[in-house]
Amino acid sequence: MRYLTFALGKGRLADQTLELFEKVGITCEEMKDKHSRKLIFVNETLKLRFFLAKGPDVPTYVEYGAADIGVVGKDTILEEGRKVHEVLDLGYGSCKMCVCGYKDAAPLLTHHELIRVATKYPNITKDYFYNVKHQTVEIIKLNGSIELAPIVGLSEVIVDIVETGTTLKENGLDILEEVCPLSARMIVNPVSMRMENSRIKSLLAQLKGQL
Ligand code: PRP
Repeated sequence: MRYLTFALGKGRLADQTLELFEKVGITCEEMKDKHSRKLIFVNETLKLRFFLAKGPDVPTYVEYGAADIGVVGKDTILEEGRKVHEVLDLGYGSCKMCVCGYKDAAPLLTHHELIRVATKYPNITKDYFYNVKHQTVEIIKLNGSIELAPIVGLSEVIVDIVETGTTLKENGLDILEEVCPLSARMIVNPVSMRMENSRIKSLLAQLKGQL
C-alpha cells in the first residue's frame, strides 16, 4: 500500500483538523510537538503522511499530486483557482468574505463608481466586482491588516474575511456587502481520487460521520 499524503494549512485549521482526524482513529503524535522543526510526519500503521504548509500553497501541492489530500480554507481555494476536487465542507473555520468600509462608503457600491478596493484576495475581489456586481474597480493587493486601507485613505472599501467582527468594530468599520460564506474544506488531487478511490471514499465517510 502506498502512502496517502495530506497537506494541512498551518495554524488553527491544522490543529482542528488533527483533532477531527483523532476522532476517527487517525493519529499523528509527533505532529503535536509545537517545538519540532520537522516538516513531514508519518503514521506507519495507516500508511499516511502529513505535512504543514502555508495555506495558499496547499492547493498547489494537491494540484501537482505532491499531496493527495489537502485541508484549507474556502477563501484560499477560491483565490488560488487550482485544479482540485473540493470533496468535503469540514464546518470549522467558519467566517465570511465581505466588502467592508465606513458606512458612508455604501453608496459607492451602488452607483458603479470607479473606486479603490484593497484586499489580500485580488482574484475573489475581481470575480465579485466584475462578474457579480458588474462594477469596474481598481484592486490594490495588500498582505495583511487590510482594515487599515480605508482608515488611512488607501482605498474606499476592502474585501476581507470577517469572523467575529471585532476588528471591524474596533476600527469603526462595517460590513457593506457579503461576498460568500467560508469554512475549512477538504480537497483532493483528481488523479488520486481515481487511483485511491476506495481509501479516500472510506476516509470521507468516516469524517462525515463525525461532522
Ligand atoms: C483576519 C482578517 C481580519 C480579521 C477578522 O486577519 O483579515 O483582519 O482576521 O477577524 P474578526 O472578524 O474576528 O476580527 P488575520 O488575523 O488573519 O491577520 P491579517 O490582518 O494579517 O490578515
